[in-house]
Amino acid sequence: MEIKEAARMPIQLTPSYSSLCRLNVLRQLNELSHLAKNLEAAKLPLGIRQRERGNIPRSTRPFDLLFKTDVAMSSSGLKTTKFKNMTELNKKQKLSITDEPAIAYSTCYVQCGDNLELLKSQLNESVNMIYCDILYGTGRNFGDYQDLKPIRSEIESHYLPRLIEMKRVLKQNGSMYLQMDYKISHWLRLIMEDIGLLFQNQIVWHYGLGNNNKKRNWQDKHDVILFATKTNEYTWNDMRGEVTPQMKAKYCHKDEDGFYMMSYGKKYYLKGGKRMGNVFDLPNLSATDGERVGYNTQKPKELISRFVLASTNEGDVVADYYLGSGTTAKVCQELNRKFIGCDINPKAIEITKGRLDGGQ
Ligand SMILES: C[S@@+](CC[C@H](N)C(=O)[O-])C[C@H]1O[C@@H](n2cnc3c(N)ncnc32)[C@H](O)[C@@H]1O
Repeated sequence: MEIKEAARMPIQLTPSYSSLCRLNVLRQLNELSHLAKNLEAAKLPLGIRQRERGNIPRSTRPFDLLFKTDVAMSSSGLKTTKFKNMTELNKKQKLSITDEPAIAYSTCYVQCGDNLELLKSQLNESVNMIYCDILYGTGRNFGDYQDLKPIRSEIESHYLPRLIEMKRVLKQNGSMYLQMDYKISHWLRLIMEDIGLLFQNQIVWHYGLGNNNKKRNWQDKHDVILFATKTNEYTWNDMRGEVTPQMKAKYCHKDEDGFYMMSYGKKYYLKGGKRMGNVFDLPNLSATDGERVGYNTQKPKELISRFVLASTNEGDVVADYYLGSGTTAKVCQELNRKFIGCDINPKAIEITKGRLDGGQ
């Protein structure tokens, strides 16, 4: 049977198949369809392949690179050796090479192209935290990009190879946050657990604004963020909310160590507001918000900052493989974290560049 045919064949599974069996089938399917695509591409005459690339400007074609600053950065985990400047960096072949300790280069690395390619070029266990605001499987065209269809096989064949790579590049003490909504979160959680990530929590982002368009259903008002780690020894910084007036009234004594309350003759010091819960009540950016940069699915910096602050320390490497308008990159710039990321859409890279060069 031809590989192309095999890739298209429906696979029948008994109702009792184990998740491991499902994972293997998915892996094989994924490899087959990858192979079939490569075969198709190989058959195209060069001229057609070039034409298919269309009019994407040279500076933002896949694998062209944008470097923000020239500071050390093997720590972002790219398999690079020595690069001297942008011109050398733009040579694609330099990207895929060795595991030598790199000497170079940036606190912020952003690439235009498919995230699977960037992931494959990264070293094992080189990233402290991954945050991705992924494709939600709505089937919609957002103008800036086309979403996946809400079909389980489509969702799984897109995410499985990418999540396997994400797990590989994550450090032993690293954390992964994947943002989506209720339509695909159950499938994503299964993939995460199937590949051996440790599921830690599900955060609900209650954004309030927008989405008042369902006539015969509850209005969509929240996203979910799946939080998983590679081991149980993950980086965690205590996250606390605001100190409320009630707390101030309760911790009304003060000495050189701060505010405290007395109970049965013992001092209890105020350590900040209450520990943050897994429901964030945080308004989405309104259409006129000053933070807006003209990308449809832009998320607020405040949301992503919480994950970065909880799961990394200054100087750590954060990755976002569905970068959009570059919110994660901007947050990392503001919080002194290193950043590596990509987006398949050239417009996203241009906007990110603008934000890193002094924008919002
Ligand atoms: C929900 S948006 C991210 C929005 C982002 N959090 C922000 O604040 O602007 C998802 C992004 O993933 C990008 N994308 C989709 N498929 C991709 C792929 N295979 N590789 C890289 N980026 C991809 C889309 O172009 C889109 O910009």
